[in-house]
Amino acid sequence: MKIGIPAETRPGETRVAATPETIKKYVAAKHQVIVQSGAGVAASITDEAYQAAGAQIGSAADAFGAELVLKVRAPDASERALMASGSVLVGMLNPFDADNISAMAATGLSAFALEAAPRITRAQSLDVLSSQANIAGYKAVMLAANTYQRFMPMLMTAAGTVKAARVLIMGVGVAGLQAIATAKRLGAVIEASDVRPPVKEQVESLGAKFIDVPYETDEEREIAQGVGGYARPMPAAWMQRQAALVHERAKQADIIITTALIPGRKAPVLISEDTVKAMKPGSVIVDMAVEQGGNCPLSELGKTVTKYGVHIIGEPNLATLVAADASALYARNVQDFLKLIIDKEGGLAINREDEIVAATLMCAAGEILRK
Ligand code: NAI
Repeated sequence: MKIGIPAETRPGETRVAATPETIKKYVAAKHQVIVQSGAGVAASITDEAYQAAGAQIGSAADAFGAELVLKVRAPDASERALMASGSVLVGMLNPFDADNISAMAATGLSAFALEAAPRITRAQSLDVLSSQANIAGYKAVMLAANTYQRFMPMLMTAAGTVKAARVLIMGVGVAGLQAIATAKRLGAVIEASDVRPPVKEQVESLGAKFIDVPYETDEEREIAQGVGGYARPMPAAWMQRQAALVHERAKQADIIITTALIPGRKAPVLISEDTVKAMKPGSVIVDMAVEQGGNCPLSELGKTVTKYGVHIIGEPNLATLVAADASALYARNVQDFLKLIIDKEGGLAINREDEIVAATLMCAAGEILRK
């Protein structure tokens, strides 16, 4: 089968959907791989490296014209125009973008949005949200450390002692756990908050302190369990108690990293303007939820702003700032997913009975299938 790897064109997108490592495997399985010239440059992969792995280098039309197209982000209208009806597209296509899914259906694509994979054990190796969130959590700490005008670790020097930075992590999913681990390696003292009960143990096992907001009703306890590994919006009373505790902890913090998301909804507000006002000058907030409306109302998409003396970093899509490893892990997720839709003879075999295939297939033969 012909597999195409186009260059990503969305502003700020540095990743690529295949690496020489995954292409070698496709070629070994007798597929013909066409990579758009320059597709890997932002991820430090040259055309020559792709060729050495067995790919051909071609134009955008060559890559989009393949039977199976591997992308990072959804194609735009001009890119869809290069795709043939009946071709298969795999990428992070945003299952919540209904307009885009209609447009892909109208093009006649069979489009798989990998973010929609269920969080079951069998799907772990193709879980793009986890692979990219892990990288983003790491990079959030790096950005914070870079902006913060003090040391992260406690230091004893001849010129006196330097205190360790206090880091507060809001939302401890995949990104938050990696942020804790990274800040810990840098020597910070860490506290963390989340709504879901299993998180407490994970936070403590990484050597951080969990900010407990006790549940006062059965309803709160039930909602906090989330659904499918994801959080649900908590009742207002719980959010108010959390905000009061977080306000106190934020006054002591030097760095706050917020990662809290609720799938398909606006991100919850966790660091209010009043809390920012109460923070120490020179503190840093990294709002990783900025694209979903932000966990802090003062953060601005794509900018670092200073408000009430606090530096607020609103850089979206942090995984793109670690393009080489983000691409390497994403490309492996894609390769793992393809095992579900390609049979032993190397042909397409889309089995809609498979739970992962059914959940990720957004449209096929002009029909919208998104659940
Ligand atoms: P996410 O990116 O959707 O959300 C980030 C975090 O924000 C979550 O931990 C969520 O509980 C938290 N959050 C939401 N509202 C909040 C609030 N008001 N206050 C504080 N925190 C709030 O979540 P992510 O990182 O995608 O994964 C969440 C969990 O899913 C993981 O920790 C893990 O347990 C599970 N998971 C399971 C997988 C599997 O079994 N295959 C794979 C990946 C994750």
